[in-house]
Amino acid sequence: MKDTTTLRDLFTEELQDILHGERQLVKALPKMAKAATSPDLRDALQNHLAETEEHVARIEQAFDLLDESAKTKVCAGLQGIIEEGSNAIKEHDKGAALDAAIIAGGQRAEHYEIAVYGTLTAWAKALGHDDIAALLSDTLEEEKAADEKLTELAEAGINDAAQSSRGANAEDEGEDEGEEDEEREQAAGRGNGREMASAGASSRGRNRSTQGQKSNSKGRSQK
Ligand SMILES: [Fe+2]
Ligand SMILES: [Fe+2]
Repeated sequence: MKDTTTLRDLFTEELQDILHGERQLVKALPKMAKAATSPDLRDALQNHLAETEEHVARIEQAFDLLDESAKTKVCAGLQGIIEEGSNAIKEHDKGAALDAAIIAGGQRAEHYEIAVYGTLTAWAKALGHDDIAALLSDTLEEEKAADEKLTELAEAGINDAAQSSRGANAEDEGEDEGEEDEEREQAAGRGNGREMASAGASSRGRNRSTQGQKSNSKGRSQK
């Protein structure tokens, strides 16, 4: 069968997909902000909600410039990321550890969006739509800034707070002092292994990969 799909077809489909994704994020971000304990994290999520509403408006503008109606196509990728985030909010009590989980989920969404807008900006240029490329590139920069802001908040205290809140809980559980010391020693020994699965350590790993991802996206050809 002859493939008659054009780049322009793909571009429209991807715009429909990300329009659906951005609209889902407009609904999810207020829930994430409400679940956050850190006032700085709440502010960052609320600021990004305002930007996300603008992202929706820019895609609608792109459809206008293409002389097409702004239809949507289910964005299964962001839908899955949002669903995982909302499960984390349901499953964990409010506090620093949930804040670290909210950051982790938020960064997954930002990385997804960075990939999408990098591609779409390049495709808009290839199609000779510099006007649309400029719109999408503004969004791309805001997604990168949002990702960096989340890294900054994680590293400026939320990961550490999540780590110490876990320590406090472990101490509360120990009844006998001798037992507590023994438990601490064991915890120190187990720490390294267990740390790999903890929210704090995984966020550190994630933030490092965020930095790596950032430099990859800078070096990407689609920029
Ligand atoms: Fe966005
Ligand atoms: Fe975003």
